[in-house]
Amino acid sequence: MSQNILSPFTLPSGAVLSNRIAKAALTERLAKSNHLPNELHQRLYRHWASHGASLLLTGNILVDKRYLESTGNIVIQHDTEKEAFRRWVGDVVSYDIHFWAQLSHAGRQSNRFASWRPVSASDVQLEKMMLFGKPIPLTESGIEEVIARFVHAARFSKEVGFTGVQFHAAHGYLISQFLSPRTNKRQDQWGGSIENRARILLEIVVRTRKLLGSSFPISVKLNSADFLRGGFDVEDATYVILELEKRGIDLLEISGGTYERSAMMGVGMKESTRSREAYFLDFAKQLRSKSEIALMVTGGFRTLSVCNEALNQDELDVIGFGRPFLQDDHFPQGFIDGTLDRVIEPKINILDSNNADAAEAGYYDIQLDRLAHGLPLATHISGLRSALRIPLHELKRGIRNRFMR
Ligand SMILES: Cc1cc2nc3c(=O)[nH]c(=O)nc-3n(C[C@H](O)[C@H](O)[C@H](O)COP(=O)(O)O)c2cc1C
Repeated sequence: MSQNILSPFTLPSGAVLSNRIAKAALTERLAKSNHLPNELHQRLYRHWASHGASLLLTGNILVDKRYLESTGNIVIQHDTEKEAFRRWVGDVVSYDIHFWAQLSHAGRQSNRFASWRPVSASDVQLEKMMLFGKPIPLTESGIEEVIARFVHAARFSKEVGFTGVQFHAAHGYLISQFLSPRTNKRQDQWGGSIENRARILLEIVVRTRKLLGSSFPISVKLNSADFLRGGFDVEDATYVILELEKRGIDLLEISGGTYERSAMMGVGMKESTRSREAYFLDFAKQLRSKSEIALMVTGGFRTLSVCNEALNQDELDVIGFGRPFLQDDHFPQGFIDGTLDRVIEPKINILDSNNADAAEAGYYDIQLDRLAHGLPLATHISGLRSALRIPLHELKRGIRNRFMR
């Protein structure tokens, strides 16, 4: 039967998505030093909840306050209070859509403003503008603690009303550091073969499923590859996906890249891949012949006809969009009611091509902040402002958090 963006989709757990449009995780950086959701998160997600997507994923919620991705992250750990979450989540699910928590641990990608000595699978440091400390390899009991933190955060998410969870195993964060042979040099049961490198992720999934039952949606975001020499590759990814399928996840989200190579945003991709939209669709197509796992693909989709064609050809089940939610105030409603054919990419001024991804991240962070304050998206943002946005934010919040602990 032919599918398009308006077709409903039933997940293995029985949960139904009313259409094929999902908002992928976009880190919000809006939390104060208590790392709780606040009125800015509420306003932002009310805006998105009322614009037509059937599934909203949160920006990454961290499972350990010591190793943040941003000083403005939301955190769920053992001492976290539920009230602020219940307000935020209750508001969003009242729109009768799915709202899933993306759970993450930054590992070595925790910047110096958040953590001077992060942890990782091994002591392989991220060399980027001297922003990241040399990581301490986790001990076996440290790994057990990380698994327990993810499982606890998943249970907490269910208790406060999220209708599903997603484990962030992509983009070079801690689980992805375990998966990649570039960053995992361990010689114990957590390193070496792909069976061992995938163990932490599979343990988290199995224990969460056991605790939360078969009717609660569990998703994983995974790289199709890191696109780095000696990194996690498509064979590794295929192995992990087949193992996740055996363990009964609901939705696999495919992305790619790390802080070293932002393939998730199309950086460094061949021009032909970028212009075809859908950076990871070739991988998804190959996967379809090997696996029946429900598939969400995120990265590069901008044109309604391209989305409908991919769905009609059964190349994927759900389409994830990130930046379009920060490029057009009416997205995705325009796709749904047929008044928008294509989301226009803004021209982002970059000061220096070496740091293009920092300027791009800053640009979108400013746009997200505007929506959270009830303002329309800006039509122009200067290159200098975009480039400085995130370093200044992290510095300011880092200092404030340190003195308000
Ligand atoms: C400002 C910004 C924040 C992001 N934060 C996250 C995040 O918290 N978790 C995540 O998995 N991906 C994150 N991403 C990546 C997006 O989810 C998505 O994979 C990427 O933007 C590609 O999709 P797009 O071409 O539709 O934007 C972020 C991207 C942007 C632009």
